[in-house]
Amino acid sequence: MFKKILYLIICIPYLSIAQKAVVIPIETQNNALVLATDKDNRLCVTHFGKRLKQTSEYAQISQQYWAKDDNAGIYNAAYTSSGSTNLVEPALNITHADGNTSTELKYVSHEVKKQDENVSLTTVLLKDELYPVEVTLFFKTYSQEDVVEQWTVIKNKEKGSIELEKYASANLYFAADNYYLTSYHGSWAREMKPEETLLTNGIKTLDSKLGTRANLFAPPTFQLAFDRSATEDEGKVLLGQLAWSGNFKIDFEMDSYHHLRMIAGINPHSSEYPLEANQEFKTPSFIYTFSEKGKGLASINMHRWAKKYRILDGNGSRMTLLNNWEATYFDFDENKLVGLFKGAKKLGVDMFLLDDGWFGNKHPRNDDHAGLGDWQENKKKLPQGIGYLVKQATAAGVKFGIWLEPEMVNPRSELYEKHPEWVIKEPQRPEHYFRNQLVLDLSNPEVQNFVYGILDTLFTKNPNIAFVKWDCNAVIYNAHSQYLEKTKQKQSKLYVDYVKGLYKVLDRVRTKYPSVAMMLCSGGGGRVDYEALKYFTEFWISDDTHPLERVYIQWENSMFYPAIASCNHVTDWDKGSLKYRCDVAMMGKMGFDIVVDKLTPNDLISAQKAISDYNSFKDVVWQGDLFRLSNPWDKPVASLMYVNEKQDKAVMFNYLVSNRFEFNFAFEPIKLKGLDPNKKYKIKELNLYPETKTSLDEVATFTGDFLMSVGYNPDITLNRKSVILEITTIK
Ligand code: GLA
Repeated sequence: MFKKILYLIICIPYLSIAQKAVVIPIETQNNALVLATDKDNRLCVTHFGKRLKQTSEYAQISQQYWAKDDNAGIYNAAYTSSGSTNLVEPALNITHADGNTSTELKYVSHEVKKQDENVSLTTVLLKDELYPVEVTLFFKTYSQEDVVEQWTVIKNKEKGSIELEKYASANLYFAADNYYLTSYHGSWAREMKPEETLLTNGIKTLDSKLGTRANLFAPPTFQLAFDRSATEDEGKVLLGQLAWSGNFKIDFEMDSYHHLRMIAGINPHSSEYPLEANQEFKTPSFIYTFSEKGKGLASINMHRWAKKYRILDGNGSRMTLLNNWEATYFDFDENKLVGLFKGAKKLGVDMFLLDDGWFGNKHPRNDDHAGLGDWQENKKKLPQGIGYLVKQATAAGVKFGIWLEPEMVNPRSELYEKHPEWVIKEPQRPEHYFRNQLVLDLSNPEVQNFVYGILDTLFTKNPNIAFVKWDCNAVIYNAHSQYLEKTKQKQSKLYVDYVKGLYKVLDRVRTKYPSVAMMLCSGGGGRVDYEALKYFTEFWISDDTHPLERVYIQWENSMFYPAIASCNHVTDWDKGSLKYRCDVAMMGKMGFDIVVDKLTPNDLISAQKAISDYNSFKDVVWQGDLFRLSNPWDKPVASLMYVNEKQDKAVMFNYLVSNRFEFNFAFEPIKLKGLDPNKKYKIKELNLYPETKTSLDEVATFTGDFLMSVGYNPDITLNRKSVILEITTIK
């Protein structure tokens, strides 16, 4: 209250100055981020939120805020530099060629280029008046989806080399009553545990220093709600992510006016990056969407954007599959695999995915202690090679996919014996392993060639391989590159150059093999982000396939990622109802990791039915919009639905998540969303277990209005723990 009164009293003297400001609105369909110069020609963020009807009024915003004490005028800098008058968390920190550490950026120019009806690119050039360093801020807007992708290019025009100590991607500024940050934490098989925090004074940091598998404990992904916590349908909320598959740091700093500064970028930890004269550094993108109508709309916008613009083949199709990891682990040979191909066909899936354990001869991959790096078929297990397996799979009527972990090496491998210099390790210290393995040094172009060669050789020899699961199971310990040392480059480049090296390899793979389906995996969901997903069609969200746990993991992932990219497998992690397991796997891209021949006759029929039912509605799940209806963290039943664009077909998934007597049924209707209120719908229960009948009245019809206002009770009980409903219009 006190704060607001002060704004009004003190803003007036600034009126005349602000009139001359350069104002740069960066608008999407509903939102605007407004940048404007201040009286000293520094670029500031003056508005974040709803788009105004009259563009001319953006110029008047800054006058409404009081920012009088010395440093306050630059709390909202659009790209905060350090070493001069700025005393808050910087976005940019440079040591100049002469050793000076001060930078003061001023606005120079900007331009807006419309790329098409939906996409525009705004670039703003900033310069330091004393040191010729140029910083260009890029804002790519996707209007319909209300998505902004933001990055920065830093150019060294000094005579000598400069050192980038910190080089963030984005620096935003928010003014609200309160800020509720939902961040995620976890570990192996416990990914994406949400935690909501009311931000208070000081800095809250989300970061990773793990190098490769950077999301293992926390992803670079968050929700930020303004004023109050957001719900699915209400509240102002930003969904954001640093699209970078390595170390990240995202700071939320509350300033002395209770405004929030956000600085997101590559983690500067041990990552000072030298920039030679005339070189430039492009940061990764920070990607966000903002909604004033809750998380539901924000997710829909993010999903639509991701499918159209980001995920490889996002609007395409995907293959259902049978994977042998949990069915066999390392214990298989070609006869056993050929038997499993038949199981895949019997089940009705599109593809068989051969997992870990097929390679290594001198050091066979019979467990996870040996073989990584030696990508030749193990002659004992696969005497006739991969080519034979591809042929046999084709003969059995399924496609063939294969597991690789190309960035890694076991010390017990021929690769390690031949190229110890390719391995990331601190030569003076004992080796330290994560899952008995070490990471290859992708900052080294020779290693990049080697990794690219693994895929290239595989595809060249076996052009019919339809799918690759690209795994990454270790973090970087003892971060030291023998390549950087030999080429007299700074060790502090390693974390960044590793990720750049990875993207170079993936670029080459995609140039030659643009469409082969690839799953991004990292010991579960340890590496998922929207830069990596440019190269992948899907990702493995967790090794935890217990269906009850999956309801929660999939729920949280659905905030950011569309179902088409989310691989969900039916496994034996839980020995309970197969129907429940299948029903949970269906809310994404479904697969199996079971021994088909061990299924009971009814379970086999049930799994086959699950696949045929899934095939009948998968287009709605993959290409429709997602509506989360009943939150498993709050309610005994988790419920969500997908609706197609025409609003004439929807699928609703309902899962019991409570064991408590009081709560082990759906005692009230669940309100549907996304339907046409004026259309009439009928409801049919899908994927019933053999010899069971639905308890629902499938003859009844309902208007969309009824289903969205009153709701529908799926009749979840202890005997009906999961219920899938198909909702279609009637004429
Ligand atoms: C990781 C993956 C699993 C499986 C194993 C194989 O843990 O997440 O799905 O592929 O590696 O070693």
